[in-house]
Parts: sequence; C-alpha cells; structure tokens
Amino acid sequence: MLSSGPMTRVLVLGGTGDARRLAALATHAGLDVVSSLAGRTRDPLLPEGDVRIGGFGGVEGLAAYLADERVDLLVDATHPYADEISAHAADAADRVGVPRLRLDRQAWEAVEGDRWTRVAGAHEAAAVLPRLGRRAFLAMGRQELGAFAGLDAMWCLARMIEPPDADAARPHNLEIVYDRGPFTEADECALLLDRAIDVLVTRNSGGDETYAKIAAARALGIAVVMIERPAQVPGEVVRTPEGALAWLLDRAGVRSSRD
Ligand SMILES: NC(=O)c1ccc[n+]([C@@H]2O[C@H](COP(=O)([O-])OP(=O)(O)OC[C@H]3O[C@@H](n4cnc5c(N)ncnc54)[C@H](OP(=O)(O)O)[C@@H]3O)[C@@H](O)[C@H]2O)c1
Repeated sequence: MLSSGPMTRVLVLGGTGDARRLAALATHAGLDVVSSLAGRTRDPLLPEGDVRIGGFGGVEGLAAYLADERVDLLVDATHPYADEISAHAADAADRVGVPRLRLDRQAWEAVEGDRWTRVAGAHEAAAVLPRLGRRAFLAMGRQELGAFAGLDAMWCLARMIEPPDADAARPHNLEIVYDRGPFTEADECALLLDRAIDVLVTRNSGGDETYAKIAAARALGIAVVMIERPAQVPGEVVRTPEGALAWLLDRAGVRSSRD
C-alpha cells in the first residue's frame, strides 16, 4: 500500500485479461483505479475498482476526461488490435501531459512444427485461405467475420461470446459456437478434430490465455493463417501487469514526494 499523500488516480484502458489483472494489482496496492471498457459485450467480465463503459468521443473526449477526472497516470492495456483507442490514448495523454504506459503482451513466435502463413489483415487472410484448406476455424472477433463473407466454397467455424448483428456480413457456410475461454489445448484439439478443421485463422494476440489453439494446431499439423499486429504507437511498453504496476508505483512515488 502507498503510505502517504493523496491517492494517485489511474485510468486503465481495458477490455483484456491483462487489464483486469492490472486493475486488481493496482487497487490492492492502494491506487485509485478506474477501468474503461468500450462496451462491446453486453455482459463483460468486470475488473476490480471503478469501471466506466463506452467511448470517450475521440481524442478530444479522452483528453477532456483525463483533465476533468484529474487522472494522474494512464495505462493503455487494450488489445493489440484495438489500434484506434491506442492512438487516441497517445494523443490525448500528450495533449494534457498525463504520463502514459502501454501494456502489451509479447507477440507469439512460430516454433518448430508450426505451419504459419503470415498476413497483414483479415482480407489478406481470406484471400490465402482457399489455398490452405477447405474447413477453416476463424478464431477472431465477430466484427472481423465480414472479411470472409466471399468464401462460398469453404466451410467455416467461428467462436464468440455473443451473436453477431443479424445483418452483419459473414461466410455463407458458417457454424458459430458461443463460448468464453480460457480453453485448454485438449479443448482446442477436440474442437478442431470434431469439426475436421484443416486451417486456423487467428490474430497474434500473444500471451498464454489464448495460446492453446496455436499449440493444438501445431499438435495436429493444421495450417495457421496468422494475421500480424497493426503498427504500435511509439512510447514506453511493458509486457506484464506486474511490470505496469511497477511503473505505476514508481510514478506514484515520484508524484507524492513532490506533493
Ligand atoms: N480488437 C480486438 O480483437 C479485441 C479483442 C479483445 C478485446 N478487445 C477490447 O475491445 C475494445 C474495443 O476494441 P476495438 O478493436 O473495437 O477498439 P478500437 O477500434 O481501437 O476503438 C474504436 C473506438 O472504441 C472506443 N474504445 C475502444 N476501447 C475502449 C476502451 N477501453 N474504453 C473506452 N472506449 C474504447 C473508442 O471510442 P471513442 O473514440 O468514442 O473514445 C475508440 O475510438 C478494446 O477496449 C479492446 O481492448 C478488442
């Protein structure tokens, strides 16, 4: 626990498991934490501490929030593919002079036995898929399904927490399973075998939480189309919630000794 001075107010831009872990660590360490969620899922896993939900209204809105709420420190712990909010966070923090840290899991690297085809985005993934298989597991968010809508000759599986919008574009031959992880390698092997999947499409989310599908594909010799991460915003980066907590405590110590 911090021993003296006013509580340091921290905004964690979240929506990830690492953001939830950081919120818990920082709250227990005596920091005043607010986590922000975009509001995409109806029944999100809520972090410890205060939570606000919904967009800020672009860079302007986030800068105004940081100033109005007297935020001392900002941690952008959003998903590596959530590049818009990360860019907004960098601009808004610069604008109002709030120190910002990026918490970003290390990307996965291919190891022996992996059969990865690396692509830059979902549309490129859809373009290479028919060369690699006929039954694809599209392991990504429901917003991404539209890119695969033209794959009429393929059978596709998707897994998500909530149904996509009824009028959202999607592949013609699609089965959706509704489930929320974590999944073990055995779970993933069972799913891949049960649906006779011969190609997996995934983003390089990094970390352990969603790695089981990669390990399962390797174990079964299944091809993987790996959608590479978008360019990251420059700035200080840590790879773990513990690393982010150390940064917060360091900054909070500096701040309270100046108060
Ligand atoms: N992309 C993924 O694959 C993925 C996977 C797992 C979790 N998530 C989480 O889902 C959220 C949305 O992802 P996305 O790819 O749609 O984001 P995005 O494209 O980078 O952001 C689009 C807009 O959504 C709002 N937003 C995003 N994250 C927010 C947050 N944590 N708090 C408040 N507003 C937020 C912002 O609206 P305003 O401009 O109005 O402020 C932002 O401009 C993120 O928080 C991310 O951590 C994303």
